[in-house]
Amino acid sequence: MKGKFIGVKQNNDTFRVEKSFYIENVQKTVLRATALGLYVAEINGKRVGDYRMTPGWTSYFTTLQYQEYDVTDYLQVGDNIISFTVSGGWYCSGLGFNSAAPRLKYGEKAAVCADLIIGEKIIFTDTDWTAQESFIRSSGIYDGETQDFISPIESLDVVEIEWNKSVLVKQICEHVKDIERLSVQQIIVTPKGERVYDFGQNITGVVEIETDEDFDGTIVLQFSEVLMNGNFFDKGTRSAKSTDTFTVKGAKKLCPEFTFHGFRYMKMVGAELPADKVFAVVRHTDLKRTGRIYTSNKLVQKLMDNIVWGQRDNYLDIPSDCPQRDERMGWTGDANVFLGTAAFNYDVRKFFKKWLRDLRADQAETGEVSQVVPDILDWKNTATIWGDSVAMIPWTLYEIYGDKSFLTENYEAMKKYLVAVEKTMKNGIVVEGQQYGDWLALDNEHYSDDGCHGRTDSYYIATLFYAECLKITSCAAEFSGEKQYAKKCRKKYDYTLKRLREEYFTIGGRFALDTITAQVLALHFGIVPEKDRKELAQRLNENVIAHGYRTVTGIIGTKYLLFTLADNGYFDTVGKIILNEQCPGWLYEVKMGATTMWERWDSILPDGTPKADGMNSFNHYFFGSVMEFIYRRVCGIDFVSAGFEKIKISPSYVSGIDEIYAEFDSVVGKIVSGYRVVNGKIEYFATVPEGIAATLVLPNEDEREIKDRTFTCIREIKTSD
Ligand code: BGC
Repeated sequence: MKGKFIGVKQNNDTFRVEKSFYIENVQKTVLRATALGLYVAEINGKRVGDYRMTPGWTSYFTTLQYQEYDVTDYLQVGDNIISFTVSGGWYCSGLGFNSAAPRLKYGEKAAVCADLIIGEKIIFTDTDWTAQESFIRSSGIYDGETQDFISPIESLDVVEIEWNKSVLVKQICEHVKDIERLSVQQIIVTPKGERVYDFGQNITGVVEIETDEDFDGTIVLQFSEVLMNGNFFDKGTRSAKSTDTFTVKGAKKLCPEFTFHGFRYMKMVGAELPADKVFAVVRHTDLKRTGRIYTSNKLVQKLMDNIVWGQRDNYLDIPSDCPQRDERMGWTGDANVFLGTAAFNYDVRKFFKKWLRDLRADQAETGEVSQVVPDILDWKNTATIWGDSVAMIPWTLYEIYGDKSFLTENYEAMKKYLVAVEKTMKNGIVVEGQQYGDWLALDNEHYSDDGCHGRTDSYYIATLFYAECLKITSCAAEFSGEKQYAKKCRKKYDYTLKRLREEYFTIGGRFALDTITAQVLALHFGIVPEKDRKELAQRLNENVIAHGYRTVTGIIGTKYLLFTLADNGYFDTVGKIILNEQCPGWLYEVKMGATTMWERWDSILPDGTPKADGMNSFNHYFFGSVMEFIYRRVCGIDFVSAGFEKIKISPSYVSGIDEIYAEFDSVVGKIVSGYRVVNGKIEYFATVPEGIAATLVLPNEDEREIKDRTFTCIREIKTSD
């Protein structure tokens, strides 16, 4: 690009720059723009495009995206004016959850860089442009936006900001947009006397309001995910102020531009606008929906819907942990465990191409992986599942989409990571280094406040996933033509498996760890010697029953729990876990009124009080990993080889769910599978794409080839079903 990065000399975090120009005739015109921060372009007073939060969040020092717009229709013969409103955004409005330290920034000053290409001529940003304050007086990702249409607008001085333009790349993934508008469900006057608008759904976005002609004053909006004792709850966002302020006279539509909030409820001070003048605007990356699950069981349907909302709310340019508090960061472990669900629900290929590029860029030279990507925290380590994302995320993407480039592009990064993990090992077992363990499992004894790590030995988990990463890396090595390295990985895998068995199984064949998560992982990843599998599966089943079918597992155990039970002959138990309505359990949240997935199984305790802790969001998607299981084992849409080149259809009846099916637009075509109970019998049905090899496995029956593209099979309901 020819443009220079320009900002302002003064300390305004948001400002406007503009340039007038004259054209003799209108010809094809393209605008290319980017910013250190966020920008909105206008030509002749008209907003360019419908993208939001551009240019998005990347590891700016290595990748900065620019956007391209065809703006031919915006121009007129004669005088024209182009302007940009620019704000700090992720670049410099401050991020990070350490309230004792200043917030983290990539740089001090926001800046914009643009080329307006009119045929042969280019109008580009430079110090000849003029600058002034914007009616957006300040804006921050965490703290919200202040707009003032009354105070005078002062002029500012344009300065050039140094930036290495070799990091510029064209937009990699789909754009963030304002996707949907939700109406107010009810206006509540709380016991404290506050006016609160309920949108009925926990979302990520902003609120748009409209004042009338008589209005003259300031309106303040604040956001929350829940009410507590009927009152607006303002503790959920921690240090993030999440406050939008509008000072205005007369009728005006008002909506923040450079921020977003995670909320279901909005508190309004300074006006009493009626419900039809208030809308919630859902803001996130505009991905293509590929999967849906439908069921007659209302609670399960609500759970599925909540999970999809959780994904939408947390896929705003990066896969974030949560959208409301002073984090909203790309926590790698969260993204990793949820991806199996996410990639069924939406086409996430480009979204993860972009994010993995940052993951590689932010990886330490010595191989440690950033815990959040983009790595604003400068926090890199080998914590299992979080660090393993470097291998496991490409692997899941390869499995669902069959695209080998996910593995080959990340192969070198995987190799480096293995070296880093090996530094924490002794005699083939991980023995040191930071771990989060089976994060947020409820199987620990809580003697102190810190009940986050679960009881399962985290170095056992770490060694086991190191072995998994070896398998993945060996496959990536094969695809990259490095046969020797592939062989080396397989040898190391065999050794690690041997060491895991020596270390965690007794000579008599008993498993030395007794948590559900430990048992699940040993079975699912084939760590238990085959001869002892049956016995351990039985122990696991007893363990689950002893826990009253409640989910005491953390984010790691939970992802594999139902798969392990189902694949080892305990499908009855699976059904009881899914349908358990007690705390902790998936339907417990639903029954407590959740509209997204909670961070903790007991984010709200049965007595209605919140878990007393600052780390308690109502929009963390990781426990939504159960949806992958519903797609693959209950509805029964599964791949036998990567990219659904070979399909397995295996719907399984869950007593208590009378009808359930999934539709999935896979890369080879549309797949439908599920069952319904009709006249006391189970009708299994499926549709598979033309020309794709598919097999059918119904409960307790042998696998057989599917000949007809669409079919139905009727079976008796057995008591054991
Ligand atoms: C985040 C998580 C994350 C975790 C790791 C939390 O504060 O919200 O979702 O994975 O930290 O420690």
